[in-house]
Parts: sequence; structure tokens; C-alpha cells
Amino acid sequence: MMSTLERIGIVPVVVLDDPDAGPDLAAALAAGGIGCAEITLRTPAGIPAIARISAADPGFLVGAGTVLEPRQVDEVADAGARFVVSPGLDPEIVERALARGLEVLPGVATASEVQRALRLGLDRVKFFPAEVLGGRAAIEALSGPFPGMRFLPSGGVTAANAADYLATPAVFAVSGSWMVPRSDVAAGDWAAIEQLSVDTVRAA
Ligand code: 3PG
Repeated sequence: MMSTLERIGIVPVVVLDDPDAGPDLAAALAAGGIGCAEITLRTPAGIPAIARISAADPGFLVGAGTVLEPRQVDEVADAGARFVVSPGLDPEIVERALARGLEVLPGVATASEVQRALRLGLDRVKFFPAEVLGGRAAIEALSGPFPGMRFLPSGGVTAANAADYLATPAVFAVSGSWMVPRSDVAAGDWAAIEQLSVDTVRAA
């Protein structure tokens, strides 16, 4: 599974207000060349949207983001999520996700958190908030003591800097919300999202 995220290379971070919009959004991303999405649990639409996307297109790699409680791991797994992302590192969430057979990408910002992730058996983490923390240079610095760890920078990544991040050997994919503006999602402007996805894939 994680090799699929790595192959796609770009993970859209999605906030949905209407779960029914999920399948159309996923189809627009896929048409633009991005076959995955992290649906955040920042709105109540998150979990039902995951279920609808998963039912509509089993080939689309749908995951859950902003997972803050261990019980949410079970809820998103039951809905069909195949990976779990958190802004920070919570060992209970990591352990629950691994027990459910899901990939898990906790957020790290410091060497201590990378070390904790390693102790939990992980070799991939989210690096958040990437730009504020120093971007590519910070990831390269962390790679010194942790050569086996690979990162998903998120937070401030855009079409303009995605290629630079992806050129970093320790980066396995990038994530962010730039290709899924909440206003376009709310308006159902799927053509705009498809075009942003095409532009992103080209730039990356
Ligand atoms: C997030 O959790 O919101 C992601 O890191 C996306 O950040 P962005 O909106 O800066 O792309």
C-alpha cells in the first residue's frame, strides 16, 4: 500500500462539508492523475465521505486525516480507509492502526518524535508543518541520525515547491491542500480541481 502512495507521490489533504461530494472529488483527482486522498476528520462529513469514496471506486486509495482519537481508527477502518494520518504522534493511534492493518503516518516535528516513531516500528512519518519547520533543509538534517526514516512533508507545500521536496531522497511523497481549495469543493467545481491536479502532477 505504501508503495502505492510513494508511486503517486502527492497526497491531497481534503476538508469536505458534504459526504456526497466525496466520489466526485475522488474522480476529479484521479482524472488529474492523483489516485489518492487524505479525507480529514475536521468535519462530520469525513467518515461518511470515506465510505462513499471507498464504495464508488475501490481502486482509489482513500485514507483518513486529522485522526486524533484511537477510536477513530476503528471508525475509518470500518468505512474503508486504507491509511491513517495524524498531525502529531500518538502511540495509541499508531498501535491501533497497525492492529487494524492500516498504514499509519503520524506527524513529527522533532528528532525526539522521529525516535519515538522508530521505536513504534515505523519507517515513514509525516513531517508537519513542513515549511515552518525549515522545509527540505530540516528533513535533510533529520535524515543524518535517522537514515532509514522517510518523510511526507505537509503544511505549506505547493505546486511551486513540491518538486524540490520530492527531489529529497528522504521524502517519499508530499501532501497538502493546494489542489483541493475548499471553495472549489463546496461549489462542486470538479473541472477546476482536475486542472489543479494536472498542473501539480506536471510540476512535480
Ligand atoms: C494539513 O494538515 O492541513 C496539511 O498539512 C495541509 O497543509 P496545507 O493546507 O498547508 O497544504
